[in-house]
Amino acid sequence: MKSSKIIGVGSHVPEKIVTNDDLAKIVDTSDEWIKTRTGIEQRRVTDDQTSTSDLAIKAAQKAIKMSGIDPKDIDVVVVGTCSPDTLFPSVSCIVQNAVGAVNASALDVSAACSGFNYALSVASNFISLGTYKTALVIGADTLTKYLNWQDRNTCVLFGDGAGAVVLKQTEKGSGILANYLYADGTGKEFLVMPGGGSRNIRPKDEEERCISMNGKEVFKFAVKALENSLVNVAKLAGVKLEEISLVIPHQANVRIIDHVVKKLGIPKERFFVNLQKYGNTSSASIPIAIDEAWRGGKIKKGDIIAIIGFGAGLTSGANILKWEV
Ligand SMILES: CC(C)(COP(=O)(O)OP(=O)(O)OC[C@H]1O[C@@H](n2cnc3c(N)ncnc32)[C@H](O)[C@@H]1OP(=O)(O)O)[C@@H](O)C(=O)NCCC(=O)NCCS
Repeated sequence: MKSSKIIGVGSHVPEKIVTNDDLAKIVDTSDEWIKTRTGIEQRRVTDDQTSTSDLAIKAAQKAIKMSGIDPKDIDVVVVGTCSPDTLFPSVSCIVQNAVGAVNASALDVSAACSGFNYALSVASNFISLGTYKTALVIGADTLTKYLNWQDRNTCVLFGDGAGAVVLKQTEKGSGILANYLYADGTGKEFLVMPGGGSRNIRPKDEEERCISMNGKEVFKFAVKALENSLVNVAKLAGVKLEEISLVIPHQANVRIIDHVVKKLGIPKERFFVNLQKYGNTSSASIPIAIDEAWRGGKIKKGDIIAIIGFGAGLTSGANILKWEV
């Protein structure tokens, strides 16, 4: 068995910033409520002409550039997304073509906001087994397109973005040390995009094309899921929690992160948080955070990093890795 390591990382967010005060002009909310209940101060929002693949391609190009590889050497493109441009072709096929990964296979992974952890696990297992040597792994979503801007329970939470990594085969014991994935379909109704799928392809009510959420239930799941994912992935990797230099959690709500900090007794400074700038960018939140943490000097060669997330499904997942760049 082999392992896989990250050799390039990149991210991209749309230019348009929507602040909490902007939202307070269209829905009954306030900057104070959003900041206190979530930690979010602003989010990035795509225009009508920009789709998920547009963001994914830009993030991928940056990750490929940093890695220094020839796109022809990419063996597989795996994209975690729940807001694809079209049901088919997949976002991964669009990216494969755009970045010149002419020798790569391509697949999307659907695990909502857990998408990047799922996609990274799929790609790293392809590499561990020796099926492939090089993978492009992306988390990309444009959930603001699926928001009801009159629903203050959801419209304040989400933003758009994409992040990407290039994975390369390495020796066991370095790079990605363990993956842990989990799902609990009993919670399938707590976070839903009801319209537009095969159950309700032409919803009569426009609102059924939008995200609907039971925030309290998702919150309860999220706290437990993050805690369990971190404990389980560390155990699988044979790593003690105190050996982890940086935990990069899914960026949904700072109160969820605070609960986990308290429960596990890991100092808050070891949790990376940038949700104040972007809101919840779904599958993109973790790779955007990896990119920012790396470029901001918060990750050094040899550090043990844990990435942990949760999402609709309900799903959760984690990866733990030794940083090798
Ligand atoms: C959504 C969330 C921030 C709501 O926070 P909360 O503390 O649970 O708030 P509640 O739902 O209890 O609402 C409290 C009050 O604030 C109101 N409220 C909800 N959203 C509001 C907003 N944007 N602005 C102002 N008030 C709001 C509610 O209507 C409620 O009013 P009421 O008491 O008069 O009924 C929180 O539940 C959460 O973050 N859940 C997880 C969501 C998530 O992460 N989803 C993505 C998963 S990948």
